Amino acid sequence: MKTLIINGSPKLNDSNSEILVNKLNHYLNTDTIQINIKNYKEDFTDVINNYETIIFVFPLYVDGIPSHLLEALNNLNIKENTNIYTIVNCGFPESAHTKQGLDLIRNYSIHKNLNYKGGLGIGGCGGLNGMSKNKLLKFTTKSINKNIEELSEFILNNDPYENTFITTNIPDSIYRLIGNLSWKKQINEID
Ligand SMILES: Cc1cc2nc3c(=O)[nH]c(=O)nc-3n(C[C@H](O)[C@H](O)[C@H](O)COP(=O)(O)O)c2cc1C
Repeated sequence: MKTLIINGSPKLNDSNSEILVNKLNHYLNTDTIQINIKNYKEDFTDVINNYETIIFVFPLYVDGIPSHLLEALNNLNIKENTNIYTIVNCGFPESAHTKQGLDLIRNYSIHKNLNYKGGLGIGGCGGLNGMSKNKLLKFTTKSINKNIEELSEFILNNDPYENTFITTNIPDSIYRLIGNLSWKKQINEID
């Protein structure tokens, strides 16, 4: 079963989605492409149609799919019956926000006659990239690691996976405190 992971973060490097793609690829060891703000007008149809399974990994933007990815999706002709899995990550700690993103991909799949096979919605991912690189903060990604390993088994067996919602393992108050400090620092850095 040939599988392709599509990273849908607009960021060219160091995105939180990239961390999730790398974790997934630890188990799947498969091909990856990124549809980002530089290349979203390219037609990836030929590449994509070499695969039986596609996994979309992207951030939630304004309760939806980032606009560059949406435009790319609208222009792609993914072959019918391709299996689709999805991982949506978001900044709010409540993972329920990601349901919108998963539902949009499910509806897209129905519309295009693709096999939507479920996925993961992950809350509290703002700063995931930094957290993952800090050895002292490894505990914050415990749930992500466990669920990505589980999802990978389903993907390898081509089984449907019930949409599952998880959050990084950081106490809510600390996540919000760090988030607020980070916003303020970023605002102060603007000229
Ligand atoms: C323009 C924009 C819109 C966003 N909208 C939401 C949102 O509606 N809900 C949410 O929880 N997070 C939202 N976020 C936060 C991102 O989903 C979050 O930071 C994510 O981890 C970014 O992933 P990436 O690094 O892979 O791009 C938004 C971020 C940006 C820049």
